[in-house]
Amino acid sequence: MPTLGIIVAMREELEIVLERLQEPQTLQRAGMDFHRGSYLGKPVVAVVCGVGKVNAAACTQMLISEFAVGSIINIGIAGAVEPSIRPGDIVIADTLVQHDVELKALGLAPGQVFRLDTFDFPTDPALLAIAQTAAQQIEGHQVHTGRIVTGDQFIACNDKIQWLSATFNALACEMESGAIAQVCYLNTVPFVCIRSISDNANNDAHMDFDTFLPIAVNNASTLLHAMVPSC
Ligand code: 5AD
Repeated sequence: MPTLGIIVAMREELEIVLERLQEPQTLQRAGMDFHRGSYLGKPVVAVVCGVGKVNAAACTQMLISEFAVGSIINIGIAGAVEPSIRPGDIVIADTLVQHDVELKALGLAPGQVFRLDTFDFPTDPALLAIAQTAAQQIEGHQVHTGRIVTGDQFIACNDKIQWLSATFNALACEMESGAIAQVCYLNTVPFVCIRSISDNANNDAHMDFDTFLPIAVNNASTLLHAMVPSC
């Protein structure tokens, strides 16, 4: 049975997996703890990558090269870009773009990666369908599917979210999954990203973040529990 890689940015989001991991074994690589074991009967390697694109990329390549995972789920929190999306809602990515990649002077569009045939990295259709089914278990919040944008910036500014919306038609913004998506694309490894909205990425984002983090963490746990057996 192929091993599933599970990447989160923050430790709270991995608690439910670590509590229930059978025959756990922890290996340190690149300053990260890779937890190997069986979760709900499925071989997994679960890891907290930390915040930001470089951490996320290093972690993803390690999962692929060293732990030979067959597919990867990234779960976590994000800021809303689309105004109708509220804290607590779920956004499942169908494509991912790195909004902070900028080679305009060389004639490239925002987000376009130099000499790569795409910069709008798609998620895996089968994993996407599993995520959508699992998300039906989240009560009281809407589930949206669309583009998530990633950059090495915590977005807390109305002008910036308007730019992200106008330029990329993004539903949500965060700091890791676009990098994970690019590494998975380069290695042809199936990948999906599911984010709970923790804030509105506006001028009050830091306040929302603290309030909605526990809800988002709870959503992540519910989703992983529902998804992993089908992956
Ligand atoms: N902007 C960027 N990243 C955000 N995250 C949550 N809200 C935002 C936001 N408004 C996520 C990032 C990172 C952590 C700070 O939370 O992905 O892991």
